[in-house]
Amino acid sequence: MREPSSILKPVRPAMMRLTALEPAANPLLAEAERHGTAFMRRLFLEWDAGANRFDRPGEIILGAWQDDRLVGLGGLNRDPYVAEDDVGRLRHVYVLASHRSLGVGALLVRHLLRDAEGHFRIVRLRAALPESAAFYRRLGFMECGDPAATHVIPVPPSP
Ligand SMILES: CC(C)(COP(=O)(O)OP(=O)(O)OC[C@H]1O[C@@H](n2cnc3c(N)ncnc32)[C@H](O)[C@@H]1OP(=O)(O)O)[C@@H](O)C(=O)NCCC(=O)NCCS
Repeated sequence: MREPSSILKPVRPAMMRLTALEPAANPLLAEAERHGTAFMRRLFLEWDAGANRFDRPGEIILGAWQDDRLVGLGGLNRDPYVAEDDVGRLRHVYVLASHRSLGVGALLVRHLLRDAEGHFRIVRLRAALPESAAFYRRLGFMECGDPAATHVIPVPPSP
């Protein structure tokens, strides 16, 4: 059962752009594989192939570091499913099971949305599971009827 996050706080990880996945993200990949979460493997494969390194304008992959350990990550891409270049897409948001319900995922998404300012007008995503849909709704995302996205949020214009 999920613990109410208010009891377990505070964890305040440092947020930093990732310039490499290995070795820090290997435990996240191993855990995701054990739990049958396929997108981590995809992240590694696309990174290794050079197909997606979150390095185009407006893109970033952020790591959440707690005591020198990577406990979560999440990426922001330009959405490849639309022609407009001002639509962003959240990808591969993942928090180690040991660090869930502590606000780490929310912190990652809020940082990514701040990074989206000035680059993207909206940010979309596809929530893989009902639980992740609940997480994104809690963070202010609205449901979206597009076949390529389940949720969307407007990005405020940069100040
Ligand atoms: C989804 C995930 C990223 C959430 O990360 P987290 O660090 O546990 O989330 P947070 O603690 O920041 O939660 C933020 C809010 O979302 C809610 N929330 C988080 N996970 C939830 C869940 N499974 N069900 C319902 N609500 C959830 C929390 O209650 C919290 O609300 P609160 O502020 O009212 O307490 C994490 O569970 C995870 O990595 N899951 C496996 C991978 C995955 O599904 N990623 C999403 C890809 S689509």
